[in-house]
Amino acid sequence: MTRALLITADPGLHDELQRLAAAAGATCESARDPAAALRGWAGAALVLVGADLVTDLAVIAPARRRGVHVVAWGSVPDQVFRPAVAVGAESVVELPRHGDRVTELLTDLGEERAVRGLAVGVIGGCGGAGATTFAAALAQVASRQGTSVLVDVDPLGPGADRTLGLEERPGVRWNDLAHTTGRLSARELRQALPRAGTLAVLTWSPGEPRQVPPAAAREALSAARRGHDLVALDLPRRPDEVSEELAPRCDLVLVVVTDTLTGLSAARRVVAGLPDPARARLVVRGPCADPDAVARAVGLPVLLTMADQRGLSESIELGLGPVRGRRGPLARAAGEVLGRLGARPAAAA
Ligand SMILES: Nc1ncnc2c1ncn2[C@@H]1O[C@H](COP(=O)(O)OP(=O)(O)OP(=O)(O)O)[C@@H](O)[C@H]1O
Ligand SMILES: [Mg+2]
Repeated sequence: MTRALLITADPGLHDELQRLAAAAGATCESARDPAAALRGWAGAALVLVGADLVTDLAVIAPARRRGVHVVAWGSVPDQVFRPAVAVGAESVVELPRHGDRVTELLTDLGEERAVRGLAVGVIGGCGGAGATTFAAALAQVASRQGTSVLVDVDPLGPGADRTLGLEERPGVRWNDLAHTTGRLSARELRQALPRAGTLAVLTWSPGEPRQVPPAAAREALSAARRGHDLVALDLPRRPDEVSEELAPRCDLVLVVVTDTLTGLSAARRVVAGLPDPARARLVVRGPCADPDAVARAVGLPVLLTMADQRGLSESIELGLGPVRGRRGPLARAAGEVLGRLGARPAAAA
């Protein structure tokens, strides 16, 4: 199987992608027009489509597949996003600024999985908005169809293992990974994390300082993505050096808000501190009369609204996690997020 397919007629972009591929030890094939792109499309483990050809490629509608990313040299023109969605791109990456993202994608080709899992960060717009709960719900729902891990990035949180009822499960935690230097194996991490079936958790150890070096956290996220279909991150409201390292690596950051005056004004400040608002969306929890008014007040589009979930505390206290059935508001909302991201279809609806 050809490792990476580079689709561009732009010599500068092509040279840069080849340079990154060589540095990552990845082999690649080049296509300089849409017809050549189609020939290599299905056989490549990773497809990098130059912004120069993405519109032409969208016109011939290649079959949907995972592992497609659009790369642009310099700032990304607005008109790239529509064809990027049309060809099923998982991200649009700007070079040379985000060359490290492309390097990660290319490096991952040498791992056991050709395609990285999706990373979704969740952050509360205000205290108690429901971020930890929603991050856990995403991981739970994703684990029904694939593998997922809930990554606890909030040092003040309740402990992601507790939220999922996995606190008794053995496995590695942040403090075990704190001295990681160099590359962490995706398979080893997956096998070492506390888990129940296909649902894993990476969180703090009881009684240990809740600290991890940012570089170790970055390596853990990279390995978690190579080893799982979905990584849900419970991000702290107040950014710290670890969240600043991990949040920009998320495919999507969800800000959970409640439609109250104080909730919305706090959320506005949280949103102002986000690294990349273009990749962030709101999830409104609880009663919401007018989602458009919420979007205007906070300054971000609303992805979805969800009613409060009944029996939540009881479910968590029983060790069942926030999502008990397939029909509650949390399960539906998490399923919708995953569906929109093109994750494996979450069987929530
Ligand atoms: N989907 C939901 N439906 C009903 N109640 C919820 C929901 N999500 C959260 N809650 C309520 O809000 C409380 C706080 O939830 P959670 O810990 O998920 O919020 P958070 O945004 O992570 O808070 P923190 O600011 O402490 O990090 C829960 O204990 C529960 O009472
Ligand atoms: Mg929380």
